[in-house]
Amino acid sequence: MEIIIQPNKEAVTSLASRIIVDRLITKPNLVLGCATGRTMNMVYESLIALAKEQALSFSEVCTFNLDEYVGLDAKHPQSYAFYMQEKLFSRTDILAEHTQLLNGTASNLKGECDTYETKITDYGGIDVQLLGIGQSGHIGFNEPLSSLGSRTREKALTETTRLQNQAFFETLDAVPKRALTMGVGTILESKEILLLATGKHKAEIISKAAEGPITGMISATSLQFHRSCKIIVDEDAASELREKEYYRWVFDNEPEWEKFR
Ligand code: GLP
Repeated sequence: MEIIIQPNKEAVTSLASRIIVDRLITKPNLVLGCATGRTMNMVYESLIALAKEQALSFSEVCTFNLDEYVGLDAKHPQSYAFYMQEKLFSRTDILAEHTQLLNGTASNLKGECDTYETKITDYGGIDVQLLGIGQSGHIGFNEPLSSLGSRTREKALTETTRLQNQAFFETLDAVPKRALTMGVGTILESKEILLLATGKHKAEIISKAAEGPITGMISATSLQFHRSCKIIVDEDAASELREKEYYRWVFDNEPEWEKFR
Protein backbone atom coordinates (compact mmCIF):
# COMPACT_ATOMS: atom_id res chain seq x y z
CA MET A 1 0.00 0.00 0.00
CA GLU A 2 1.13 3.52 -0.73
CA ILE A 3 -0.29 6.78 0.51
CA ILE A 4 0.00 9.81 -1.72
CA ILE A 5 -0.71 13.15 -0.11
CA GLN A 6 -1.78 15.97 -2.40
CA PRO A 7 -2.34 19.62 -1.46
CA ASN A 8 -6.08 19.71 -2.18
CA LYS A 9 -9.00 17.78 -3.66
CA GLU A 10 -8.37 19.13 -7.16
CA ALA A 11 -4.85 17.65 -7.06
CA VAL A 12 -6.22 14.33 -5.73
CA THR A 13 -8.68 13.96 -8.59
CA SER A 14 -6.20 15.18 -11.16
CA LEU A 15 -3.62 12.61 -10.06
CA ALA A 16 -6.19 9.79 -10.06
CA SER A 17 -7.34 10.65 -13.56
CA ARG A 18 -3.76 10.94 -14.82
CA ILE A 19 -3.03 7.45 -13.47
CA ILE A 20 -6.15 6.06 -15.19
CA VAL A 21 -5.22 7.73 -18.49
CA ASP A 22 -1.70 6.32 -18.20
CA ARG A 23 -3.15 2.80 -17.75
CA LEU A 24 -5.61 3.41 -20.60
CA ILE A 25 -2.81 4.37 -22.98
CA THR A 26 -0.98 1.15 -22.11
CA LYS A 27 -4.16 -0.93 -22.37
CA PRO A 28 -6.94 0.63 -24.50
CA ASN A 29 -9.31 -2.18 -23.46
CA LEU A 30 -8.82 -1.36 -19.79
CA VAL A 31 -11.30 -2.93 -17.37
CA LEU A 32 -12.13 -0.11 -15.01
CA GLY A 33 -13.89 -0.65 -11.70
CA CYS A 34 -16.08 2.40 -11.10
CA ALA A 35 -17.21 3.89 -7.80
CA THR A 36 -19.80 6.55 -7.10
CA GLY A 37 -20.27 9.27 -4.49
CA ARG A 38 -19.23 12.88 -4.10
CA THR A 39 -15.50 12.16 -4.27
CA MET A 40 -15.86 10.47 -7.66
CA ASN A 41 -17.74 13.37 -9.30
CA MET A 42 -14.57 15.33 -9.84
CA VAL A 43 -12.59 12.26 -10.91
CA TYR A 44 -14.94 11.62 -13.83
CA GLU A 45 -14.92 15.34 -14.74
CA SER A 46 -11.17 15.38 -14.77
CA LEU A 47 -10.89 12.04 -16.61
CA ILE A 48 -13.22 13.22 -19.38
CA ALA A 49 -11.32 16.51 -19.77
CA LEU A 50 -7.97 14.75 -19.90
CA ALA A 51 -9.16 12.13 -22.38
CA LYS A 52 -10.54 14.90 -24.61
CA GLU A 53 -7.29 16.83 -24.43
CA GLN A 54 -5.32 13.74 -25.46
CA ALA A 55 -7.93 12.55 -27.98
CA LEU A 56 -8.28 9.24 -26.14
CA SER A 57 -11.13 6.90 -26.89
CA PHE A 58 -13.11 4.82 -24.38
CA SER A 59 -14.50 2.63 -27.14
CA GLU A 60 -12.62 -0.45 -25.96
CA VAL A 61 -12.89 0.30 -22.22
CA CYS A 62 -15.11 -1.91 -20.08
CA THR A 63 -16.46 -0.89 -16.70
CA PHE A 64 -17.80 -2.72 -13.67
CA ASN A 65 -19.56 -0.73 -10.98
CA LEU A 66 -18.93 -1.48 -7.36
CA ASP A 67 -22.43 -1.41 -5.99
CA GLU A 68 -26.10 -0.51 -6.44
CA TYR A 69 -29.09 0.11 -4.20
CA VAL A 70 -31.66 -2.66 -4.04
CA GLY A 71 -35.02 -1.50 -5.38
CA LEU A 72 -33.82 1.44 -7.50
CA ASP A 73 -33.88 0.98 -11.26
CA ALA A 74 -31.56 2.68 -13.76
CA LYS A 75 -34.10 5.49 -14.30
CA HIS A 76 -34.12 6.45 -10.61
CA PRO A 77 -32.00 9.61 -10.22
CA GLN A 78 -30.35 8.22 -7.08
CA SER A 79 -29.44 4.88 -8.58
CA TYR A 80 -25.78 4.40 -9.31
CA ALA A 81 -26.70 3.36 -12.85
CA PHE A 82 -28.19 6.83 -13.37
CA TYR A 83 -25.15 8.46 -11.75
CA MET A 84 -22.75 6.65 -14.08
CA GLN A 85 -24.79 7.52 -17.14
CA GLU A 86 -24.76 11.20 -16.17
CA LYS A 87 -21.17 11.53 -14.95
CA LEU A 88 -19.28 9.28 -17.34
CA PHE A 89 -21.01 7.07 -19.87
CA SER A 90 -23.07 9.66 -21.75
CA ARG A 91 -20.05 11.94 -21.98
CA THR A 92 -17.63 9.50 -23.58
CA ASP A 93 -17.67 7.11 -26.52
CA ILE A 94 -17.86 4.10 -24.21
CA LEU A 95 -20.17 1.41 -25.60
CA ALA A 96 -23.27 0.63 -23.56
CA GLU A 97 -22.59 -3.10 -23.86
CA HIS A 98 -19.19 -2.56 -22.22
CA THR A 99 -20.67 -1.03 -19.06
CA GLN A 100 -21.55 -3.58 -16.41
CA LEU A 101 -23.75 -2.63 -13.47
CA LEU A 102 -25.51 -4.62 -10.81
CA ASN A 103 -29.27 -4.56 -11.26
CA GLY A 104 -30.84 -3.76 -7.90
CA THR A 105 -34.29 -4.61 -9.22
CA ALA A 106 -33.44 -8.09 -10.52
CA SER A 107 -36.00 -10.70 -9.48
CA ASN A 108 -33.22 -13.03 -8.37
CA LEU A 109 -30.65 -10.89 -6.55
CA LYS A 110 -28.39 -13.79 -5.66
CA GLY A 111 -28.33 -14.89 -9.30
CA GLU A 112 -27.58 -11.32 -10.35
CA CYS A 113 -24.55 -11.20 -8.01
CA ASP A 114 -23.25 -14.61 -9.06
CA THR A 115 -23.51 -13.68 -12.75
CA TYR A 116 -21.62 -10.45 -12.04
CA GLU A 117 -18.75 -12.41 -10.50
CA THR A 118 -18.61 -14.66 -13.58
CA LYS A 119 -18.62 -11.63 -15.89
CA ILE A 120 -15.68 -10.05 -14.04
CA THR A 121 -13.74 -13.28 -14.54
CA ASP A 122 -14.78 -13.51 -18.21
CA TYR A 123 -13.43 -10.02 -18.82
CA GLY A 124 -10.08 -11.08 -17.35
CA GLY A 125 -10.57 -9.29 -14.01
CA ILE A 126 -10.55 -5.63 -13.11
CA ASP A 127 -7.40 -3.73 -14.07
CA VAL A 128 -7.94 -0.57 -12.04
CA GLN A 129 -10.55 -0.33 -9.30
CA LEU A 130 -11.57 3.13 -8.11
CA LEU A 131 -12.74 3.36 -4.51
CA GLY A 132 -14.14 5.99 -2.21
CA ILE A 133 -14.51 5.38 1.49
CA GLY A 134 -17.59 5.74 3.65
CA GLN A 135 -17.21 7.39 7.03
CA SER A 136 -17.63 4.00 8.69
CA GLY A 137 -14.75 2.68 6.59
CA HIS A 138 -16.70 0.67 4.10
CA ILE A 139 -15.53 0.10 0.56
CA GLY A 140 -18.40 -0.44 -1.84
CA PHE A 141 -21.20 -1.27 0.57
CA ASN A 142 -19.14 -3.72 2.62
CA GLU A 143 -20.54 -2.77 5.98
CA PRO A 144 -19.04 -3.74 9.38
CA LEU A 145 -18.35 -7.46 9.79
CA SER A 146 -18.27 -8.05 6.05
CA SER A 147 -16.11 -11.10 5.49
CA LEU A 148 -12.74 -10.06 4.15
CA GLY A 149 -13.16 -12.89 1.64
CA SER A 150 -16.72 -11.94 0.63
CA ARG A 151 -17.96 -11.98 -2.96
CA THR A 152 -20.61 -9.87 -4.69
CA ARG A 153 -23.82 -10.13 -2.69
CA GLU A 154 -26.71 -8.33 -1.04
CA LYS A 155 -25.97 -6.37 2.16
CA ALA A 156 -28.14 -4.55 4.68
CA LEU A 157 -26.98 -0.94 5.09
CA THR A 158 -26.08 0.50 8.47
CA GLU A 159 -27.79 3.58 9.87
CA THR A 160 -24.46 5.47 9.52
CA THR A 161 -24.33 4.74 5.79
CA ARG A 162 -27.98 5.62 5.27
CA LEU A 163 -27.52 8.89 7.15
CA GLN A 164 -24.41 9.68 5.12
CA ASN A 165 -26.33 9.19 1.89
CA GLN A 166 -29.54 10.82 3.09
CA ALA A 167 -28.62 14.15 1.49
CA PHE A 168 -29.35 12.62 -1.92
CA PHE A 169 -32.88 11.55 -0.96
CA GLU A 170 -35.88 13.49 0.34
CA THR A 171 -36.10 11.69 3.66
CA LEU A 172 -34.13 9.06 5.58
CA ASP A 173 -37.00 6.69 4.95
CA ALA A 174 -36.47 7.02 1.21
CA VAL A 175 -32.85 5.80 1.49
CA PRO A 176 -32.80 2.11 0.53
CA LYS A 177 -32.05 -0.31 3.35
CA ARG A 178 -30.23 -2.82 1.21
CA ALA A 179 -27.69 -2.82 -1.58
CA LEU A 180 -25.78 -5.15 -3.88
CA THR A 181 -22.05 -4.78 -3.61
CA MET A 182 -18.87 -6.37 -4.86
CA GLY A 183 -17.40 -8.31 -1.97
CA VAL A 184 -14.17 -7.45 -0.21
CA GLY A 185 -12.61 -10.54 -1.80
CA THR A 186 -13.85 -9.43 -5.23
CA ILE A 187 -12.33 -5.97 -4.78
CA LEU A 188 -9.02 -7.39 -3.55
CA GLU A 189 -8.67 -9.37 -6.79
CA SER A 190 -8.44 -6.13 -8.83
CA LYS A 191 -4.96 -5.72 -10.24
CA GLU A 192 -4.61 -2.14 -9.02
CA ILE A 193 -6.67 -0.12 -6.57
CA LEU A 194 -6.95 3.64 -6.23
CA LEU A 195 -8.78 4.76 -3.10
CA LEU A 196 -9.51 8.47 -2.89
CA ALA A 197 -10.52 10.55 0.09
CA THR A 198 -10.70 14.26 0.71
CA GLY A 199 -11.74 16.47 3.61
CA LYS A 200 -11.28 16.54 7.37
CA HIS A 201 -14.30 14.29 7.93
CA LYS A 202 -12.36 11.43 6.30
CA ALA A 203 -9.15 11.94 8.34
CA GLU A 204 -9.95 9.56 11.19
CA ILE A 205 -11.17 6.73 8.98
CA ILE A 206 -8.22 7.08 6.60
CA SER A 207 -5.77 6.69 9.48
CA LYS A 208 -7.67 3.63 10.74
CA ALA A 209 -7.93 2.11 7.25
CA ALA A 210 -4.27 2.54 6.35
CA GLU A 211 -2.44 2.43 9.66
CA GLY A 212 -4.82 0.58 11.97
CA PRO A 213 -5.26 -3.14 12.58
CA ILE A 214 -6.99 -5.22 9.89
CA THR A 215 -10.56 -5.90 10.91
CA GLY A 216 -13.85 -6.99 9.36
CA MET A 217 -15.41 -4.04 11.21
CA ILE A 218 -13.69 -1.68 8.74
CA SER A 219 -13.62 -3.29 5.30
CA ALA A 220 -11.13 -0.70 3.98
CA THR A 221 -8.44 -2.14 6.30
CA SER A 222 -8.42 -5.23 4.03
CA LEU A 223 -6.64 -3.10 1.42
CA GLN A 224 -3.49 -3.59 3.47
CA PHE A 225 -3.41 -7.09 1.94
CA HIS A 226 -3.38 -5.71 -1.61
CA ARG A 227 -0.08 -5.54 -3.48
CA SER A 228 -0.89 -2.49 -5.57
CA CYS A 229 -3.18 -0.22 -3.64
CA LYS A 230 -2.69 3.54 -3.68
CA ILE A 231 -4.55 5.76 -1.26
CA ILE A 232 -4.66 9.30 -2.61
CA VAL A 233 -5.67 11.93 -0.08
CA ASP A 234 -5.62 15.67 0.36
CA GLU A 235 -3.91 17.35 3.33
CA ASP A 236 -7.17 17.38 5.30
CA ALA A 237 -7.84 13.67 4.91
CA ALA A 238 -4.16 12.97 5.67
CA SER A 239 -4.15 15.06 8.83
CA GLU A 240 -4.38 12.11 11.27
CA LEU A 241 -1.81 9.86 9.60
CA ARG A 242 1.22 9.03 11.74
CA GLU A 243 3.82 8.52 8.99
CA LYS A 244 2.94 11.44 6.74
CA GLU A 245 6.52 12.56 6.17
CA TYR A 246 7.59 9.08 5.11
CA TYR A 247 4.70 8.86 2.60
CA ARG A 248 5.63 12.25 1.17
CA TRP A 249 9.26 11.18 0.82
CA VAL A 250 8.31 8.01 -1.05
CA PHE A 251 6.09 9.87 -3.52
CA ASP A 252 8.74 12.55 -4.09
CA ASN A 253 11.58 10.07 -4.62
CA GLU A 254 10.30 6.80 -6.10
CA PRO A 255 11.03 6.59 -9.87
CA GLU A 256 7.56 5.04 -10.42
CA TRP A 257 6.00 8.41 -9.61
CA GLU A 258 8.32 10.61 -11.62
CA LYS A 259 5.91 11.22 -14.50
CA PHE A 260 3.04 11.97 -12.11
CA ARG A 261 4.71 14.52 -9.84
C1 GLP B 1 -21.23 5.31 -0.83
C2 GLP B 1 -20.68 4.28 -1.80
C3 GLP B 1 -19.20 4.06 -1.57
C4 GLP B 1 -18.49 5.41 -1.51
C5 GLP B 1 -19.02 6.22 -0.37
C6 GLP B 1 -18.29 7.53 -0.16
O1 GLP B 1 -21.51 4.76 0.41
N1 GLP B 1 -21.31 3.01 -1.70
O2 GLP B 1 -18.68 3.27 -2.61
O3 GLP B 1 -17.13 5.17 -1.34
O4 GLP B 1 -20.38 6.45 -0.67
O5 GLP B 1 -18.95 8.58 -0.76
P1 GLP B 1 -18.47 10.08 -0.78
O6 GLP B 1 -17.41 10.18 -1.80
O7 GLP B 1 -19.70 10.83 -1.18
O8 GLP B 1 -17.99 10.43 0.59
